[in-house]
Amino acid sequence: MFRLAHVTDPHFRGFDGARVGDFLGKRAVGALNVLVNRRRKHKMELLRALGEDVRRQGFDHLALTGDLSNVSLDAEWRSALRWIEALGRAPESITVIPGNHDAYVPAVVTSGAFESLFAHYQTDDGDIAAGRASKGKAGKTGYPFVRFRGPLALVSLNTCVATGDLGAWGEIGAAQIARAEAFLMSPAVRSRKRVVLLHHPPIRQKGGEDRNLRDRQAFAELLVRAGADLVVHGHDHKDESAHLSGPNDSRVPVIGAGSASYAGAPDRRARYNIYEFEGDAITMIVRAHDEATDAFREALRVRVA
Ligand SMILES: [Fe+2]
Ligand SMILES: [Fe+2]
Repeated sequence: MFRLAHVTDPHFRGFDGARVGDFLGKRAVGALNVLVNRRRKHKMELLRALGEDVRRQGFDHLALTGDLSNVSLDAEWRSALRWIEALGRAPESITVIPGNHDAYVPAVVTSGAFESLFAHYQTDDGDIAAGRASKGKAGKTGYPFVRFRGPLALVSLNTCVATGDLGAWGEIGAAQIARAEAFLMSPAVRSRKRVVLLHHPPIRQKGGEDRNLRDRQAFAELLVRAGADLVVHGHDHKDESAHLSGPNDSRVPVIGAGSASYAGAPDRRARYNIYEFEGDAITMIVRAHDEATDAFREALRVRVA
């Protein structure tokens, strides 16, 4: 059995080293939001407890699907990195991709700061998948990347663009779709359980298009052509479960996890998922924080494939 843990939307805080000049425009609004709202809604104590639970439960691989930060500050990402390192596992066992909050302002995206900091968690086995001569390098053009771990092939997409407004929408783009298709169709990937990681739900979950994945139709069409065994995402800060069509009327489970640090109502409170792969079966376990006992417990166990 292979256990894949999925943690998303921790929204780590940290202002150390930030300069006044960092807080202009969108970041000023976002930073104010952190101070006024997120401090109450997202608790760092819950993240520590969740990390402990992840460690105790054990995993073969951990996927962290973005929104590590609030306003793409280096100090926020370093808080996330410390949390990851505290798990005590080699970077080969952990995959990190960005969320829209990690692409908060254009300068950060262009600098590739996120990819530099988390480079060890984004190493690419794409040369094996596509017979390429050299390994893909980090950066926007480095997505998607593929990693072979146990029986899994993990294909990681970047849906995040500096929107230039207060929108939280995402976009994969034609280049990533094409490369993802090449990965998903390659014999090395097809011989494994194919898991796609992305931050935004590739399905319309909420009304406002200012926070949805714009090219979700192109992604749905990609799955019809190429197929996958499981798609996991974050972004909506709640448990979500749906299907997209694969080839020959097959159904691909598309599952979103809630925020790892959310301090609100029981159905959305800090949580993460564990997927157990055994043969063709995939079982999902939701572990959520219980406020009464101040501990993480199993909230759901369901077979998804
Ligand atoms: Fe988020
Ligand atoms: Fe998000």
